[in-house]
Amino acid sequence: PATGPWQESSVYRSGINLNEIYVLLTMINNCIISVCYNVIVSVFIFQGAKKPFNEVIRANIGDAQAMGQKPITFFRQVMALCSYPELLEDDKFPDDAKQRARRILKACGGSSIGAYSASQGIECIRQDVSRYIEKRDGFASNPDNIYLSTGASDAIVTILKLLVAGEGSNRTGVLISIPQYPLYSATLADLGAVQVNYYLNEDSCWSLDIPELKRAVTEARQHCNPRVLCIINPGNPTGQVQSKECIKNVIRFAKEERLFLMADEVYQDNVYRDNEFHSFKKVLFEMGSEFSSTVELASFHSTSKCYMGECGFRGGYVEVINLDPGVKAQLTKLVSVRLCAPVPGQALLDLVVNPPQPDEPSHATFMKERTTVLANLAEKAKLTEEIFNTVPGIKCNPVQGAMYTFPQIKLPQKAINKAKEAGQEPDMYYCMRLLEEEGICLVPGSGFGQRKGTFHFRMTILPPTEKLKIVLKKISDFHVRFTKEFSE
Ligand SMILES: Cc1ncc(COP(=O)(O)O)c(C=O)c1O
Repeated sequence: PATGPWQESSVYRSGINLNEIYVLLTMINNCIISVCYNVIVSVFIFQGAKKPFNEVIRANIGDAQAMGQKPITFFRQVMALCSYPELLEDDKFPDDAKQRARRILKACGGSSIGAYSASQGIECIRQDVSRYIEKRDGFASNPDNIYLSTGASDAIVTILKLLVAGEGSNRTGVLISIPQYPLYSATLADLGAVQVNYYLNEDSCWSLDIPELKRAVTEARQHCNPRVLCIINPGNPTGQVQSKECIKNVIRFAKEERLFLMADEVYQDNVYRDNEFHSFKKVLFEMGSEFSSTVELASFHSTSKCYMGECGFRGGYVEVINLDPGVKAQLTKLVSVRLCAPVPGQALLDLVVNPPQPDEPSHATFMKERTTVLANLAEKAKLTEEIFNTVPGIKCNPVQGAMYTFPQIKLPQKAINKAKEAGQEPDMYYCMRLLEEEGICLVPGSGFGQRKGTFHFRMTILPPTEKLKIVLKKISDFHVRFTKEFSE
């Protein structure tokens, strides 16, 4: 941020001093590592330090529009109309956009998106979400089970809050994948829940293996009460897409072990190559009533990712399945305390789940824009894997989905020693050197968790293709140089 407590720090006041930034970074928890990077970028920009590059390229955060992706025209037309209804008289806006805006406004208090909504979310939008899920999965969805939220983050935190209880060895344990998305570890720490790690299998494209889940849950039972299993599919930071067979096995495991499933599916349209996204809800219902009437599931979606990239609107939802009615009543109470999710975010979510239809004037443009974004991402996913795998010492799994790559980097022992002397994780040292020498911002693997003795970084595939090519070249050259420097 341009302003804030950072300004109190001597780093900010006295100009660029990487040693101080290192200290600052190690003081800040992993969970907000990307925030740290914002600080570093600000220091570079605000201090005007002389560096061997013209710009800092931020490949650290999954924020598509910040990386130049254009918003979907139809979405912004409807949002403009909802925000300033006088525009409904303007001929520049297509009829279907006006129709959507009128429908949304009619559902708002005082016909204004500036009014609070029902705490669970605007009813007609929850109905649209249900219809979207039904169309996606081929199984019924009940709008009473949909809660609109402030991005997916808010819904994830709310559901975890609902599920965490107990004391001592009876405290709720929550299984999360390693590498993980830091929202989970941060929330569990905040709630005082027990984080139970299960490792994804890097050697088979970050697959989720049942024996590893079994190991994690069995060990955890000795000191806590494992009750929840979180899955991110498609994966962040690892970019894998789980097969239907894998999801079935996970559901069977959850039933056997009486675990509540949390399926984070915010990247559900970001699926490349021949992979296919299967929602947990669909697979659960395909497995028959033995599972679909017993296994508890919360699945999450968002306006922030996929082809939309509308992170700033903070739109999202959770669908809950097989929640005990008493627990559901508590959930409703919990969301009511905070009044409601942002109404503009709810409106935008409505457009995501109910986009222009083939017989509507905006359909062709919408489809063209959507397809272009997703095709570009698919192309960049392939390019990233191909280029990284040509570099000795970088090993990159296929980017099957989401917006990230999480390659393993081989670091010379001398570099590891050097980092340790400075009290740093070796991959943090690597990323800081890359930032300093090439102006490229990545996140070290240690921010997400990784098997001991392995090192990674996470890079987004969001920069425009030409810029991404430059980024990949710079990282490749840097890696060779860095390896040589510490091998001599
Ligand atoms: C796996 C995962 N879940 C949830 C979120 C949060 O998304 P939102 O912007 O909807 O809160 C992110 C954001 O990067 C994510 O990667």
